[in-house]
Amino acid sequence: MSLALGCDEAALDLKNLLKAHLEAKGLVVKDFGVHTSAPAMYPDIALEVSLEIAAGHFDRGILLCGTGLGMAITANKVFGIRAATCHDTYSAERARKSNDAQILTMGARVVGSELAKTIVDAWLASEFQGGGSTAKVERIKQIEKKHLRGDQ
Ligand code: RB5
Repeated sequence: MSLALGCDEAALDLKNLLKAHLEAKGLVVKDFGVHTSAPAMYPDIALEVSLEIAAGHFDRGILLCGTGLGMAITANKVFGIRAATCHDTYSAERARKSNDAQILTMGARVVGSELAKTIVDAWLASEFQGGGSTAKVERIKQIEKKHLRGDQ
């Protein structure tokens, strides 16, 4: 599985820690930054990673900021992207099984590093379950087609 990773300055340490965690598991990880603690424009990082996922260049993405919220809000503006903010393992599992979320977002000011690793592991270990969730995700896609406008 290939993964794209991005963060703003609030989550730099968490990003570096998770990158090492993922690489130790043998996963292919591309780090889209940031790489310093200088104030960053988190929407630009979220956009870059989301476009890569939407283009099929990576299987999944992880976006980190102070709360995980700005990253998710931005990522969900990109056509085809389903990003979920998860700060517990149950949500992380359901984000894959029910919502087929290709992007996980977390807040470095919300979760500790050990919990963050566990959440990532739960999310990576889960796949979309189909079944009753298929029609619901398809409905999300229809809504996206109708209501998400603008140049992508
Ligand atoms: C800091 O810029 C903070 O606003 C950001 O990391 C994030 O929490 C936004 O959602």
